[in-house]
Amino acid sequence: MSDVIIVIGASGGIGQELVHQLSERYPDNIIYALSRKSQTASFSDNVRCMNIRTDDEKAIHEFCKSLDASDQKVRLAISTVGILHGEVDGLQIAPEKRLEDLSNGQLLRYFHVNSVVPALWLKHLVDRMSDQPSQIVCFSARVGSISDNRLGGWYGYRASKAALNMLLKTAAVEYGRRAKSTTLLSYHPGTVDTGLSEPFQRNVKPEKLFTPEFIVSQLLALLPELRADQSPYFLDWEHEVVTW
Ligand SMILES: NC(=O)c1ccc[n+]([C@@H]2O[C@H](COP(=O)([O-])OP(=O)(O)OC[C@H]3O[C@@H](n4cnc5c(N)ncnc54)[C@H](OP(=O)(O)O)[C@@H]3O)[C@@H](O)[C@H]2O)c1
Repeated sequence: MSDVIIVIGASGGIGQELVHQLSERYPDNIIYALSRKSQTASFSDNVRCMNIRTDDEKAIHEFCKSLDASDQKVRLAISTVGILHGEVDGLQIAPEKRLEDLSNGQLLRYFHVNSVVPALWLKHLVDRMSDQPSQIVCFSARVGSISDNRLGGWYGYRASKAALNMLLKTAAVEYGRRAKSTTLLSYHPGTVDTGLSEPFQRNVKPEKLFTPEFIVSQLLALLPELRADQSPYFLDWEHEVVTW
């Protein structure tokens, strides 16, 4: 049984493109495209679109148990899960410009989606990774770099991506013991033309607004270069190091 690939959050701008390019690059592997939404995009035959609650631990556990049942190990898992604006659990959220904009409900939602959900996947995948070189990628953001924070603002998004980075860095220590062949990568894609960045694209130079196609091909070119004994990484779309 060949090892499988999982895309967590497959319906988004970057997620759909990931499924598309992964299915072409790895025609012999099954690609599980997991989304909370029913997916209408048509993909190659090796793609299994699954409509599951990727943000619910019970559903995560059930999915992972189904891998055990079919004796499947994971060679690559990519979480695109993230929220910047829009409705989350009945609350409309938007990045905070000043301290007065902070609210308990909004901060909790940022942390739940951007930090807790990927962390739960790290928890459930640790014993399911392949013994061959394998990777887990979490889409993070440069604004989650504590050392790079000069502009301020966007409290919840920044802090929840910084928390994601810390969770990933902490998990890497344990993965180093329990899943030695697995590399963890926190990835900054730059500004990508998707629904997530759409309201904030006005001040972005056209040459700095990337297509999902470009960003995904940059990521897939990077993966073979990663080494488990260097894990974890925090890298950007140019394959440059981002400081934590
Ligand atoms: N676009 C950019 O400029 C940019 C820049 C820096 C970092 N990023 C990061 O890149 C990642 C992908 O972003 P994108 O541009 O593709 O945005 P997007 O089109 O809005 O997609 C966001 C993804 O997050 C998942 N998601 C949203 N809310 C969720 C929730 N409550 N529970 C579980 N999953 C949820 C969705 O999965 P479903 O399939 O289940 O709906 C969706 O696939 C995000 O983590 C984002 O923070 C993006």
